[in-house]
Amino acid sequence: MPIAQNTETAAKLRCISCGAAPDSAAQDFRCTACGDLLEFFFPGWTCGSDAFNPPALDAAALKALWLDRRASCEALDQSGVWRFRELLPHIAAEHAITLGEGNTPLYHLPRCARAAGVENLRAKHQGMNPTASFKDTGMTVAASSAHERKFRWVACASTGNTSASMAAYAARGNMHSLVLIPEGKISWGKLSQALDYGALTCQLRTDFDGCVRILTDLVRQKPVYLLNSVNPYRIEGQKTAAIELMEQLGWEPPDHIIVPGGNLGNSSAIGKALLEMLALKLISRLPKLSIIQAQGANPFYRSVREFGGKKIEPVIADTLATAIRIGNPASWKKALRVLQATGGEVEEVSEVEIANAKAEIGADGIGCEPASAVTLAGLKKLHRSGFVKSGDSVVLILTGHALKDPDFTIKFHRGDLFADILVAGSCASGTPDAAEAAKARYLQRAPVVLDADLGAVIAALDAAERNSKC
Ligand code: F0G
Repeated sequence: MPIAQNTETAAKLRCISCGAAPDSAAQDFRCTACGDLLEFFFPGWTCGSDAFNPPALDAAALKALWLDRRASCEALDQSGVWRFRELLPHIAAEHAITLGEGNTPLYHLPRCARAAGVENLRAKHQGMNPTASFKDTGMTVAASSAHERKFRWVACASTGNTSASMAAYAARGNMHSLVLIPEGKISWGKLSQALDYGALTCQLRTDFDGCVRILTDLVRQKPVYLLNSVNPYRIEGQKTAAIELMEQLGWEPPDHIIVPGGNLGNSSAIGKALLEMLALKLISRLPKLSIIQAQGANPFYRSVREFGGKKIEPVIADTLATAIRIGNPASWKKALRVLQATGGEVEEVSEVEIANAKAEIGADGIGCEPASAVTLAGLKKLHRSGFVKSGDSVVLILTGHALKDPDFTIKFHRGDLFADILVAGSCASGTPDAAEAAKARYLQRAPVVLDADLGAVIAALDAAERNSKC
């Protein structure tokens, strides 16, 4: 099908605050005029509603082209990111580093739906990417742009998943990678990935926000390509999760999409994709995009609820969902824009609510890492508040694989996780968390240690059968 890649709609950079449009970005991806973030925009797309100025890209032709590519043997066509390359900034094909990312499943969650009080609940599982998190969809594009620019070194500050993803794509592209992570605050699964993919891994005695500060200074001094989500190529790649989701739904948007919020790059990307798809007439209406944070790492929630989105006050973040243990989110203005444009909501959820929601997603045979489970915990609250109606269709974006953080899972099922939380004093009796903690007992499945004896195993089986009927 004759659609040339971005010839009519070449992507341009622009500052989200002052509108300056530089030809290229500085090493820290900040606007040189005002210091705010940059984004890509595609001149011409927003004219889609004007009959005298039709969109450069034809929606029906694009849908057919993307479908055709699924039958292609070309590596770029097989990628669930590059398959949608008409909606990405141009990168020469020889520089594209792909691990076959994207193409992630959309699952029904029947038990979780009952627990949340909604009839139609699905999860798009971005943990089913090559390095087991959603980061791969953005990383394939941003790492390719580093390759095209001939960088020897790429770097990121991370709570774990970005570093795993970056290290893998850097290795595939024959680039060196530098990882800055907070010491002691990332899961072993993620740390071990970065090591295996050959990154120079520095565990700094600070938190994620401290790692970001050091890295921002570093890239201003050294020829190192920054791969955090302030890099707008990351956002462009992460848009494809929403495009692929709409394709999986036959281009019929759900009523709600719910995402976890940490540094707020992912929500920004999904929202940007929704707005662009509407402008291009790929979809005819917008889902509401809602963003959920952990109570202990809730600066965006507070910004929206307490300050009407006018400012953000950084917090010292603390949550067992270490992926979103972030106190000063870089992309909060971008996220605010898409939250408002789609009419979405913000919520915060407690540690116990996160743990229970994670076990419920596991019990549906899917599983995810703790940060992803804030989506289900948030949905329950949004349903209770009436924002989500029982008959609404809802898609949760699960961002990381269950095996990313098995420590959390084991502690939950053994009952040790709540011991930590109870000690921390956030679960006084009579509070909503105490009720959640009581609910946890029904979800916990601690391993049973027995003698190697048939009778003992049969007794355990019979006891489990009796319990399942209560
Ligand atoms: N879920 C998971 C599993 C994550 O790893 C992250 C972020 C998020 C949600 C939040 O996404 O930052 O775009 O709002 N992890 C980053 C990292 C910060 O370094 O891996 P966000």
